[in-house]
Amino acid sequence: MAQVPSSLVLRRPDDWHVHLRDGAMLQAVLPATARTFARAIVMPNLRPPITTVDAALAYRSRILSALPQGQPFEPLMTAYLTDDLDPNELERGFREGVFTAAKLYPANATTNSAAGVSDLARIAAVLERMESIDMPLLIHGEVTDPEVDIFDREAAFIDQHLIPLRRRHPGLRIVLEHITTEQAAVYIRDEHLAGDRRLAATITPHHLHLNRNAMFMGGLRSDFYCLPVVKRECHRQALIAAATSGLPCFFLGTDSAPHPRSGKESACGCAGIFNALHAIESYACVFEQAGALDRLEGFASEHGPRFYGLPLNDDTITLVRKEQSVPSRLDPVETDVSAEDSLEENEWPALFHAGETLPWCVA
Ligand code: DOR
Ligand code: ZN
Repeated sequence: MAQVPSSLVLRRPDDWHVHLRDGAMLQAVLPATARTFARAIVMPNLRPPITTVDAALAYRSRILSALPQGQPFEPLMTAYLTDDLDPNELERGFREGVFTAAKLYPANATTNSAAGVSDLARIAAVLERMESIDMPLLIHGEVTDPEVDIFDREAAFIDQHLIPLRRRHPGLRIVLEHITTEQAAVYIRDEHLAGDRRLAATITPHHLHLNRNAMFMGGLRSDFYCLPVVKRECHRQALIAAATSGLPCFFLGTDSAPHPRSGKESACGCAGIFNALHAIESYACVFEQAGALDRLEGFASEHGPRFYGLPLNDDTITLVRKEQSVPSRLDPVETDVSAEDSLEENEWPALFHAGETLPWCVA
């Protein structure tokens, strides 16, 4: 077995799927993303959702003003597709460099998705336009039929919606976001191996670390509840194989999704895991265990920008093989926000890997 290096220099990574929220939560969580990632694809599922160029510009400025002084970071904005979004608005945002991509939430699939798309047929004109201007479509791939078992909703989406959609729009550039199943990993891989360069997938740290037992370990654990929900161990193994395969169709997207404590610790807890603070260390553990540390840089820093047609970052980060213990929640003292802009003391989000010791840290 190859020796584990004591440090690892990586081209600076990007996060190709993150929820930065707004207001006090944005202030609280943005530094965690910006200290590691040069750029991030910012999800538009705010209330109200980001459906116009103006709303995206305003949100982008709020993100930039929430950055710690002197911290470089580039938010890449997305448009939230609804049944009646105007293709001209979308095209204008894309051509003006405001929208990097558009996000498809099937209506009611997840957090703040009520205004999402009720039927793909209703956005045929939008999809056609996106195909013609080569604008990436980012998909939350789950069917929303309550009759379908929640653990089967991703696989059902691929069969019932994704495959037919790709037949109708063969030129559309698609990212299937936060994949959770062997079916998704195998579908993306096989399309890639068959020569398709228009389909990719992001993979989160939590879906690489957790199987569905985590949600029920000694009680009901909403901290491990996210959507798509974590699946059986065989699916986790398939995701690890995909992420560490070196194939350029798989890349990093944390889906870091903070919720206030009151939103998680509730009879109906919100879906979402806040992993931004230790994301790269978390991925490094998985790649190390798979004997694939040499493939981490491709996954974290190269495959994403190449798929999006963006330049690779020039600078680097250094991971050091030194243990760090993860506190239970994001620490309010780590930001320099005035008290009135800050989250309530008891609302700071819990951290993924809380209470664990991670073998890597960022120098
Ligand atoms: O777990 C999730 N949380 N999945 C999503 O699709 C949305 C996200 C959120 O916004 O909280
Ligand atoms: Zn997400």
